[in-house]
Amino acid sequence: MTAQRAISLPCEDDTLALGAQLAGAVPATSNHALCVTLSGELGAGKTTLVRGFLRALGVEGSVRSPSYALLETYELAARRVLHLDLYRLRDPEEVTALGLRDYDQPDAIWLVEWPERAADRLPLADLALRFEVGDEGHSVRIEAGTPLGVLWLSGSF
Ligand SMILES: Nc1ncnc2c1ncn2[C@@H]1O[C@H](COP(=O)(O)OP(=O)(O)O)[C@@H](O)[C@H]1O
Ligand SMILES: [Mg+2]
Repeated sequence: MTAQRAISLPCEDDTLALGAQLAGAVPATSNHALCVTLSGELGAGKTTLVRGFLRALGVEGSVRSPSYALLETYELAARRVLHLDLYRLRDPEEVTALGLRDYDQPDAIWLVEWPERAADRLPLADLALRFEVGDEGHSVRIEAGTPLGVLWLSGSF
C-alpha cells in the first residue's frame, strides 16, 4: 500500500493529468466527506490540479480559484465537490461562517487550497498534496493521512 508519493510535474498537462488520476480513483464509499489539501506557493499548480480533477468528473465550464468567495461547489452525478481557496481567510474562525458542516457528507469531496489558513478547523486530510517549484520545475509530494487516503493513493497509480 502506498502512503506517500513524490511526483515531478514538468508541465501543466502533467498537473492536469494527476488531477484526473486522483479523480479516477476516488474511494467509492466513506462515512464522511473526503478531504484533499493542496499546499504550496502561489502559482505552484493547486488550482490546475483541481481543474484536472473536475474535468475528469465531467465539469465542462471554467474552473477558477474561488479566491473571493472562498468556496465553489460542483454538483455532479454521483458526487458533490467543494473547492475551497482559503488564501484570503483572515482568521481561522472565519471558516465557521462558511457553513462547511453542511458539506460534511459521505458523497462530498473537499479540495482545499491554503488549508494552513484554517489552522485545525478542517477535517483530517485523506490526502495532503504539497506542491513545490524548484530549479527543476514543478513537483508535488502526496501523503495519505487516513486509511482511506492510502487506498485512494494506491488506486491512483
Ligand atoms: N506542472 C506545471 N508546470 C508548469 N506550469 C504549471 C504547472 N502546473 C501549473 N502550471 C501553471 O502555473 C500557473 C499557476 O497555476 P495555478 O494552478 O493557478 O497555481 P495555484 O493555484 O497554486 O496558485 C498556471 O498558469 C498554470 O498553467
Ligand atoms: Mg489557486
